[in-house]
Amino acid sequence: MSEVAKKEIRVQPICSGTVIDHITAGQALNVLKILGITGTSWGIVSILINAPGSYGRKDVVKIEGRELVSSEVDKISLISPGATINIIRDYDVQEKNQVGIPSHVEGVVKCINPNCISNSNEPIESKFDVDTREGKIELRCGYCERVICENIADHLL
Ligand SMILES: Nc1ncnc2c1ncn2[C@@H]1O[C@H](COP(=O)(O)OP(=O)(O)OP(=O)(O)O)[C@@H](O)[C@H]1O
Ligand SMILES: [Mg+2]
Ligand SMILES: [Zn+2]
Repeated sequence: MSEVAKKEIRVQPICSGTVIDHITAGQALNVLKILGITGTSWGIVSILINAPGSYGRKDVVKIEGRELVSSEVDKISLISPGATINIIRDYDVQEKNQVGIPSHVEGVVKCINPNCISNSNEPIESKFDVDTREGKIELRCGYCERVICENIADHLL
């Protein structure tokens, strides 16, 4: 490939949609899962895994023609607290927001304690207090106090 061609090939810019940037490396596919995007979804989605960022590796997800709702952003913040949500309109970044880390989440994560009342047949919604320790998210169950700090994506409801 010629030097000129190498410089010209780029991911096609999005006219309107969302760029989720600075995703914790390795979490891009979990972000897609949160957004319900599968291989047969409509719309153009580009996924960058292990892209070089200013602070080491990062993942990036670009979604054409879609903006996120707050419940989706809350879930993304739990698996990738450093992510930024860039809203693209008319090819430009119109809005840039750091994902806010909620102090409390309800009905978002399933408790890992099988004996927790939130996992019984009672009509009880899960609830967790959210803490960050050294940049990592820690969830403490509001019923049994069990802490989830690893593989949070695997426990999302
Ligand atoms: N029209 C577009 N189509 C696709 N991606 C875009 C478009 N505009 C911006 N982006 C991407 O959105 C992200 C944010 O764009 P921005 O221009 O704010 O970059 P930046 O200054 O590096 O931001 P940051 O400081 O958050 O890293 C980048 O990953 C950029 O590649
Ligand atoms: Mg950047
Ligand atoms: Zn519990």
